[in-house]
Amino acid sequence: MFLSNTLRDKRIPLAYGAGAIPAIGFGTLIRDPGAAKQAIKTALEVGFRHLDSAELYGTEDIAGHAMREAFEAGTVRRKEMFVTTKLWNNNHRPERVGPALEASLHRLQLDYVDCYLIHTPFAFPPGDEQHPKDEHDQVIYDTGVTLVETWRAMESLVDEGGCRTIGLSDIRLDKLKEIVAVARIKPAVVQVESHPYLPEWELLDFCHEQGIVLQAFAPLGHGMEPRVTEDPVITAIARRVHKTPAQVALAWAVQRGTALLTTSTNPDRIRENFDISPLPDDALREMHDNIATTVRFNAVVETGVPGFVPPPREASTSPDDRPPSPRQGGGSPSPHRGANSDL
Ligand SMILES: NC(=O)c1ccc[n+]([C@@H]2O[C@H](COP(=O)([O-])OP(=O)(O)OC[C@H]3O[C@@H](n4cnc5c(N)ncnc54)[C@H](OP(=O)(O)O)[C@@H]3O)[C@@H](O)[C@H]2O)c1
Repeated sequence: MFLSNTLRDKRIPLAYGAGAIPAIGFGTLIRDPGAAKQAIKTALEVGFRHLDSAELYGTEDIAGHAMREAFEAGTVRRKEMFVTTKLWNNNHRPERVGPALEASLHRLQLDYVDCYLIHTPFAFPPGDEQHPKDEHDQVIYDTGVTLVETWRAMESLVDEGGCRTIGLSDIRLDKLKEIVAVARIKPAVVQVESHPYLPEWELLDFCHEQGIVLQAFAPLGHGMEPRVTEDPVITAIARRVHKTPAQVALAWAVQRGTALLTTSTNPDRIRENFDISPLPDDALREMHDNIATTVRFNAVVETGVPGFVPPPREASTSPDDRPPSPRQGGGSPSPHRGANSDL
């Protein structure tokens, strides 16, 4: 059967709220504003119809401007786009949730977003400080609000029409289950780090059972070492199917039923990342059975603090070895180990 293009055009219907999410999305976490502008423009030209942003990234206005230009030029219509943005940790108090979305909509120049995510399950004190630290350089958390209280405020936003769906990001399975158990409007999307070195099968199984879309960020491992695109299993498959290793990793992500967000500032790679086609079953099986490396590259799930952190060179790091954090279910947050300021 000829299946080419079925992956890049795939949209996954959302079970809670309204709409369908394009399986392939473009992330706007790009530090340099000029590069972000060019990359988002190229992504829209190439055919990406799913943009992921966040209050924290500082790129909502750039994405908004790029979309506005495309709408006005008539090359893209609003209803073809799927736009996600995220509530940052200092806005978890219920009375701050609506104004935070309003401010994001203003920057994005939109009337609504397709999906609004709680960026992390960790609350920071209400105020303007996005990265609160005490005199010992330790993160300050807000114990005056629970994740369920924040979730209730998110549900109201769906009722009011500011977002079509809501979801969670950087969350572990146990915490997700707590929200699903009490939600009036269930999470439509859960955005977490996931790639061949961090497949998150258990979380994915739960999401599939519940009709939740798991959206993989860093599907290429953020380009960090050990490089997913240099994995011997993946490179061998790439040679066999005449695709690049990146295209193999992205196809794998879509074929196992996740949505994904990739990012590049390189126009050729932006095109490459959209041009994916299905892998044969034996390739999927090989990736499942033969890739043994396990790495979590981003520490945010532990602390709510941004940061891709290079793993120790000598060994891959099992995510299960890492300690839980207070709002993820007990224990102390691990220190912020020299992470860069990406999120
Ligand atoms: N919820 C969260 O906490 C969270 C955290 C992190 C990210 N995100 C979202 O997820 C998006 C994607 O994350 P990510 O940037 O880590 O994704 P990624 O696509 O795994 O990694 C991007 C890196 O890979 C390189 N790259 C891209 N395409 C490539 C290709 N075809 N071949 C080789 N290298 C390639 C890029 O370099 P070049 O630019 O040089 O091509 C860049 O360094 C972000 O933009 C953001 O929207 C969310």
